Amino acid sequence: MKLRTFATAAASVAAVLAVSAAGLYLWVRPAELAPLAHVPAAGTATLVAAGARVVALGDCMVCHTAAHGPAYAGGRALDTPFGTIYSTNITPDPDTGIGRWSPEAFRRAMREGVARDGHLLYPAFPYIHYTRMSDTDIDLAYGYLMSRTPVRSEAPPNGLVFPLNFRPLLAFWNALYLHPGDAAIPARQDTPLARGRYLVDTLGHCASCHSGMTALGGERHPPFQGGNIDGWDAPALTRLNGGAAPWTQAELVDYLSGGLSAAHGAAKGPMRAVTERLAGVPREDVEAIAVYLMSIQSDAPAHAAAVAAPAVPATATATGTATATSGADADTRASRLFAGACAGCHAAPAPMMRSGGRPALARSSAVLGERPDNFILTVLHGIPVDGAAPVYMPPFADTLSDEQIALLAAYVRSGAGQPAWNAVAQHSAKLRKETHE
Ligand code: HEC
Ligand code: HEC
Ligand code: HEC
Repeated sequence: MKLRTFATAAASVAAVLAVSAAGLYLWVRPAELAPLAHVPAAGTATLVAAGARVVALGDCMVCHTAAHGPAYAGGRALDTPFGTIYSTNITPDPDTGIGRWSPEAFRRAMREGVARDGHLLYPAFPYIHYTRMSDTDIDLAYGYLMSRTPVRSEAPPNGLVFPLNFRPLLAFWNALYLHPGDAAIPARQDTPLARGRYLVDTLGHCASCHSGMTALGGERHPPFQGGNIDGWDAPALTRLNGGAAPWTQAELVDYLSGGLSAAHGAAKGPMRAVTERLAGVPREDVEAIAVYLMSIQSDAPAHAAAVAAPAVPATATATGTATATSGADADTRASRLFAGACAGCHAAPAPMMRSGGRPALARSSAVLGERPDNFILTVLHGIPVDGAAPVYMPPFADTLSDEQIALLAAYVRSGAGQPAWNAVAQHSAKLRKETHE
């Protein structure tokens, strides 16, 4: 098709979509709900503490707090394939926050993705999961947020591509992806399995990173087959017990509640904020999540090659002979690089490893995964000290080239008995550019 014909056709399709969305929106347009005259008084300390647990499990603070900004005051930029969306202020400030929102308005936002004044909210706010929250949990979250210090702060305008900056289009999206579901599910939380399912599916919205995205920005089905977020691979959650380093329930509890499993590694990238919040909730909640995760494992192993590979002793990464295809010279350069930059911490005799409780690199999904993304991003950006876990790794973006990162990748893959990844240097250059702060 000629470019101009194509542009005309695309413009007409966009126009038809916009007009019909506007029609649909006018037809089902949500009403504005009356503002409260006063910010509601905070509840008892017990209610506020119960609300803090809900809000931690729902990860509300992570998205609703800008870097170095006040908690819950919004303004954090969320990058989506469709442009940038800023989170809003959910402190009880009457003018710029939710101080005048009634409990009904808050409940409608959580269940239907509609703001108090009736405008549709973008699904970067994971209401497609919160929609199945119990009434009790929604009210507890409301009470907790209303007990916070009000902060005056307005989010910057969103930078979304046309026509997605036209909110009524979301009526279509909701028709496709918003499934309020069986309201009885949340009520059944009497066993660890049922509680875990509720926490994973609803509050924890784990699928929003671990399921992958459709072209329309919805979640792929079936869920938990693995996704990608901010350049990081979020591994499949249905294949945790397969592959070269299968997880046990107890290891999942350590990882989720402490940000570090001695058998697998540390939580990195976007997963770190999740484990930091889970560090503060009662252990029984994290145990319930682990019970549920164990119940959704498919029997198919992660990747056949990994299972066939010989078990790799903890020392292999540091001492194993690299057999990268590029030959003996590359092997020597790689092992020298590793000795100089990494062995001080990761080799078996390193103090960090000898003190115990540290995972061998060969057992991390960042090394065993099908793609090199998490290995590259860990080496480029390191692991910042910011959480409950005693974990710090320096960034190497300024000291290692993309070719050097590729050499190291081949070295640790071979130490773990895995075939080398392809095109690591090119991939590293791309991720370096995309994730440059
Ligand atoms: C993954 C990021 C993310 C998480 C997690 C998240 N939110 Fe949000 N939330 C957003 C974004 C982005 C918006 C703004 C959407 C828009 O402007 O269309 C928003 C909007 C809202 C709104 C509407 C506010 C307004 O002024 O219109 C409420 C209420 C809200 N969130 C509450 C919560 C609560 C409660 C939690 C935790 C249970 C939570 N959010 C977790 C990203 C998030
Ligand atoms: C100052 C110590 C230090 C140095 C130097 C260091 N790391 Fe790390 N690295 C860590 C810590 C701490 C972790 C988190 C795991 C843990 O606590 O054992 C980690 C984790 C990793 C992981 C992810 C494993 C996981 O936890 O899932 C990879 C991959 C990695 N390092 C690669 C490297 C490479 C390659 C180098 C050399 C370029 C290097 N590291 C240098 C301290 C270090
Ligand atoms: C904001 C995105 C995001 C959310 C939400 C999220 N995860 Fe993750 N998760 C990731 C990423 C990215 C990784 C890979 C990082 C790493 O290995 O350190 C990961 C890693 C994991 C791992 C380790 C898997 C492996 O093979 O190494 C587990 C287990 C996990 N997540 C469980 C959960 C659970 C349970 C929830 C919900 C309570 C959740 N995640 C919510 C992004 C997310």
